[in-house]
Amino acid sequence: MGDGSPDIVVVTGVAGVGKSVVAQGIARATGWTLAEGDGFHPPANVAKMRAGRALTDADRWPWLAALRDWIAVQERAGSSCVVSCSALKRSYRDVLRDGNPSVRFCALQADGEVLRGRLESRREHFMPASLLNSQLGTQEPLGADEPGVRVDAAGEPAVVVVSALDALGL
Ligand SMILES: Nc1ncnc2c1ncn2[C@@H]1O[C@H](COP(=O)(O)OP(=O)(O)O)[C@@H](O)[C@H]1O
Ligand SMILES: [Mg+2]
Repeated sequence: MGDGSPDIVVVTGVAGVGKSVVAQGIARATGWTLAEGDGFHPPANVAKMRAGRALTDADRWPWLAALRDWIAVQERAGSSCVVSCSALKRSYRDVLRDGNPSVRFCALQADGEVLRGRLESRREHFMPASLLNSQLGTQEPLGADEPGVRVDAAGEPAVVVVSALDALGL
């Protein structure tokens, strides 16, 4: 970011909004390291989601802490990176930012109908469409006082990636 500190972008939003696609697009455009937030869940959380059961906050803290710790390594190394992580609530985003001043969010937004259609065609993934309603109910939009940008994610993947890069100034 010009002053020697890294740029750390966390791509957020509900299941199916396109976090993985956009995070991969940002990684490709910038050459930054990419981390998939899904990969930081303890096995018990993955099993729960596969069974169609919503995670509780108690389930989420170890996951978010693991991701925060990975980000902290990048922060200390001065390595810019991009992370996909639903981070639906402000309290979850606060965990990721804790000790990591370079974090900013790229909040992807699309309505429920668009999202349901995408998830139904992604059957191999552990997040069933039945959890989408719970996610939409849980979601707290990015606050004006949180660092980052909001991006409309309803368009074609390539369009959304360009919108995200543009909004982030990358
Ligand atoms: N902008 C888009 N338009 C149409 N389909 C998309 C778009 N972005 C992602 N998809 C598809 O929707 C599904 C969910 O995308 P993904 O990036 O995995 O979402 P997330 O990581 O937020 O759960 C995938 O099958 C993906 O190919
Ligand atoms: Mg994903």
